[in-house]
Amino acid sequence: MADGFFLTFEGLDGSGKSTQLRKLATHLQALGLGVTVTRQPGGTRIGDRIRGLLLDSKTDHLAPQAELGLMFSDRAECIAEVIAPALHGGNVVLCDRFTDSTEAYQGGGRQLGSEIVLQMHRTMCGGLQPDLTLLLLADFDQSLRRARRRNDRNATAEHDEARFEREDEAFHRRVYDKYREIAAREPDRVVVIEGDQTIEAIHRQISTLVDEKLRAAGLLPTASFTPGEKQMPENPDKARFTP
Ligand code: ADP
Ligand code: TYD
Repeated sequence: MADGFFLTFEGLDGSGKSTQLRKLATHLQALGLGVTVTRQPGGTRIGDRIRGLLLDSKTDHLAPQAELGLMFSDRAECIAEVIAPALHGGNVVLCDRFTDSTEAYQGGGRQLGSEIVLQMHRTMCGGLQPDLTLLLLADFDQSLRRARRRNDRNATAEHDEARFEREDEAFHRRVYDKYREIAAREPDRVVVIEGDQTIEAIHRQISTLVDEKLRAAGLLPTASFTPGEKQMPENPDKARFTP
């Protein structure tokens, strides 16, 4: 499908995905690339309504299979409306969570297993795979504490997004283990990023890695020259990138 590049961020709630995604988007835009940012659940008008239903802690008695179906309905809409057109247009798409989240949370956390998730992915998403997935693994307790603090800050009397964070520790442990299993199964696609570093250190690591991948994909020239940099590239005859 792609002329562009499809990059997804994964990890437990509060592992720093959204923070890193925003910083990477700014970095890539400064290099002159077209960048599309989206998230799941959400990212479209219908997806935001599905997100409200899925994440609000007032939603109870939702069967795990119904939850699974809603995650994939949201994803199919996001692919059709946002991701596929952006990739066709040659953009770098940064997506906060994708099918690995469903495998980790519904497959692992809710114990539906991986197979049904992978089958639904083939059916509902045409098998679209990220070119690269960054799996942020920070300290387990720290991540959940951060996510809870952030959600308490953002919650209103009518609406919150705490439904998954309220699950018990065993649920989140199963999510964590499933993420590890996915990373071990698909080492070419999934890169594990150690999340217990400063925001800046993680950003440097991610931007170096992503620049490399984009060069390999032909979306950045092989010798890049960042605008405002004091020194010239080693070989100035090599392709120089001017946004
Ligand atoms: P996620 O999108 O994975 O749920 P966020 O990016 O929203 O995580 O981060 C959750 C909270 O933790 C935010 O308040 C954010 O500022 C903070 N945070 C993110 N990364 C780090 C880090 N490396 N060190 C300390 N705090 C962080
Ligand atoms: P979100 O705010 O995107 O995550 P975070 O707290 O990490 O910033 O919340 C999305 C929640 O939905 C999160 O708890 C994980 C869950 N989720 C699933 O259970 N399955 C899925 O397929 C997706 C995309 C998310």
